[in-house]
Amino acid sequence: MYHQINQEDLSFFKSILGDRCKDDIQTREAYNHDHTEDLKFTPHVVLFPQTTNEVSEILAHCNKHQICVTPAGARTGLSGGSLPIYGGVLLSCEKLNKIIEIDQKNSQVTTEPGVITEILQNAVKEKGLFYPPDPASKGSCFIGGNIAENSGGPKAVKYGVTKDYVLNLEIVLPDGTIMWTGANVLKNATGYNLTQLIVGSEGTLAVVTKIVLKLIPHPTHTMLMLVPFFDATSACEAVASIFNQGITPSGMEFMEHNALKWAQLFTEDYSIEIKKTHAAHLLIEVDGFDAEQLIKDCEAIMGVLEQFETDEILFAESEAQKNTLWNLRRKVGEAVKVQSVYKEEDTVVPRFELPRLLQTIKKIGEQFGFETVCYGHAGDGNLHVNIIKGDLSDDFWNKELSVAIRALFTAVVQMGGTISGEHGIGLVQKPYMDIAFDTKGLDLMRGIKSIFDPKGILNPGKIF
Ligand code: LAC
Ligand code: ZN
Repeated sequence: MYHQINQEDLSFFKSILGDRCKDDIQTREAYNHDHTEDLKFTPHVVLFPQTTNEVSEILAHCNKHQICVTPAGARTGLSGGSLPIYGGVLLSCEKLNKIIEIDQKNSQVTTEPGVITEILQNAVKEKGLFYPPDPASKGSCFIGGNIAENSGGPKAVKYGVTKDYVLNLEIVLPDGTIMWTGANVLKNATGYNLTQLIVGSEGTLAVVTKIVLKLIPHPTHTMLMLVPFFDATSACEAVASIFNQGITPSGMEFMEHNALKWAQLFTEDYSIEIKKTHAAHLLIEVDGFDAEQLIKDCEAIMGVLEQFETDEILFAESEAQKNTLWNLRRKVGEAVKVQSVYKEEDTVVPRFELPRLLQTIKKIGEQFGFETVCYGHAGDGNLHVNIIKGDLSDDFWNKELSVAIRALFTAVVQMGGTISGEHGIGLVQKPYMDIAFDTKGLDLMRGIKSIFDPKGILNPGKIF
């Protein structure tokens, strides 16, 4: 289907990139995985362009010769979006790593895609500005990858996800055309919204080479509390009750007992006491500019929590303790990974359905005989469901499990939800897209794909 890269192609890539074209086996193997399960696909060559023009020349060549290209950021993704499943070119955005301009007059930043999200956040914070989307991997993921997957993170519950901050993108189309998708403005009613079409398109339509993001004033105060619940469903019920009191926390995270326990083991940080009876915790943050208002918000939250059976609430007393709590939460994903082979689902339902979602997950687990560990962004109705392989047979894992996942996703869609909140479809959720979209919806998406990428060279085999 795709042209195999030959010496002529390599000579071409080397003529434009020099030693930023790597076809040695060590490099190829170093780029054969992301953070998705234990999946590995080795590219034929790894390219590290440094400019938009280099990206354009690479794509034009690959398009002409029908060579497949998989764009990659920091490869922290969890749906296999940057896996080069047909080999070909792995186009790393690592060297497109400059913050081009922080425009304080307009509260905007222009950046290249290979900047680590947290580095970007810290750079704008120095100017008093805030870029809120903060995936758990913010210390290593790239802003370009966040755009590809429309990443969320804990702050999404108050501040929205990546798409809510993207104003304009410079992209390179598969035929090498360089274009901007919109304008650097806060309002834009000019034709179809190409900018937002690219956000979340998982590198299947174009390669993003410059990004203009909206920024907001950085809040000056936060308060953080960890609330232990004796019953996990009741922790989920508390979530909607808090929002229904008119409070919008800047973080509302749920962790089942084992999620937090394993994060403690992984980080070797046992400073927080977790009792056996603590079935789940909510980690709740409020932020703002007025310390007294935050105290009032916390009092209102505690008022709501009185209706539920909780153990003693821990209020973080220092920045260090806040960091400890957030670090435990952020490390859950990695902590699960070292416990067992696992599959992570990224279910999302309307917030009020969260208790029903948790119960459905547990019921399906019992029915099919597997254990799950759930955690995630409860305020968004977004639960990461980790299915643990443990002692389950390979046969069950490779065959029957997909029946269970299908049952779970079907229930999620019936609750008004969908099959990925923030990790994307990529490779691993592709078999389930028919649950979220009927044929017409999928045909429309395929039509869009074929207009952008008629030869199908860009990140093939993903989404549908
Ligand atoms: C998290 C990642 C897995 O929330 O999305 O930790
Ligand atoms: Zn998450």
